[in-house]
Amino acid sequence: MAPTAPSPLMEVEGVTVRFGGLAALSDVGLTIAPQSVTGLIGPNGAGKTTLFNVMTGVVRPQRGTITFKGRPLRNHRPHQLARLGIARTFQGLNLFERMTVLDNVIVGADPLGRSRLPGMLTGLGSYQRDERELTDRAMAVLEEFGIADVAHAYPSTLPYGLQKRVALARALVAEPELLLMDEPASGLSGADMADLAATIRRCSQTMGVVLVEHHMDLVMDVCDHIVVLNFGQVICSGPPSVVQADPAVAEAYLGTPVQEAAGE
Ligand SMILES: Nc1ncnc2c1ncn2[C@@H]1O[C@H](COP(=O)(O)OP(=O)(O)O)[C@@H](O)[C@H]1O
Ligand SMILES: [Mg+2]
Repeated sequence: MAPTAPSPLMEVEGVTVRFGGLAALSDVGLTIAPQSVTGLIGPNGAGKTTLFNVMTGVVRPQRGTITFKGRPLRNHRPHQLARLGIARTFQGLNLFERMTVLDNVIVGADPLGRSRLPGMLTGLGSYQRDERELTDRAMAVLEEFGIADVAHAYPSTLPYGLQKRVALARALVAEPELLLMDEPASGLSGADMADLAATIRRCSQTMGVVLVEHHMDLVMDVCDHIVVLNFGQVICSGPPSVVQADPAVAEAYLGTPVQEAAGE
């Protein structure tokens, strides 16, 4: 008997999204394995952002289902993601400019979700204890990311690469099982990019990671599995070697090698 694959972390089946007459996604299916990195690529307008938005509950598909850990996600909303064990990062930074780095990360720990609510119900003592626990947890993540020394600084005073790390620390403090990243490499320079690749690989030891990304070097480097969209349909799906060798993928990128077409 063939060895059984691990049960999928997230399954997208038959998802169709129409904007007016335009099918942004047509019957899209994919499986995200736990402790793996799945890349979502495709030319501009292919439907990547729409699919990302479907996964995060921002866009509701006309057809199809999304299952997380074997349970259908119906009517899930973006603010409920953390409680489910799903975290996301934004294409920009989306940091709160009037909060310190530390407070930005504490917010990511989902104050009204798993961590704080029991304390609020059982009295001030445990509420304070939870506060302390949250702060300790946030500091530990900042240390992990090498930014503990700027915990009390405001994000806008930091170089862009560090601000990106704060945004990622905020997504990870709740210890998600699935991390969805929207173009995490945008605006990063070489050294920060190498850093990001290492972080993504580290994350995938404990969680599933989905990466919407234009930088093909990064995608080919860190992804275990890649799904290629074109005109709202999955045209190829497999490990980097298979995707790179697929003529349909090259054609989708207008006949130019995937590597170059994605440079933008
Ligand atoms: N809110 C929207 N209203 C109308 N059309 C949209 C909307 N969002 C996306 N689209 C269209 O859906 C298609 C897929 O877009 P998108 O998911 O943003 O692609 P990608 O992220 O791969 O560039 C495009 O043709 C785009 O113009
Ligand atoms: Mg997009």
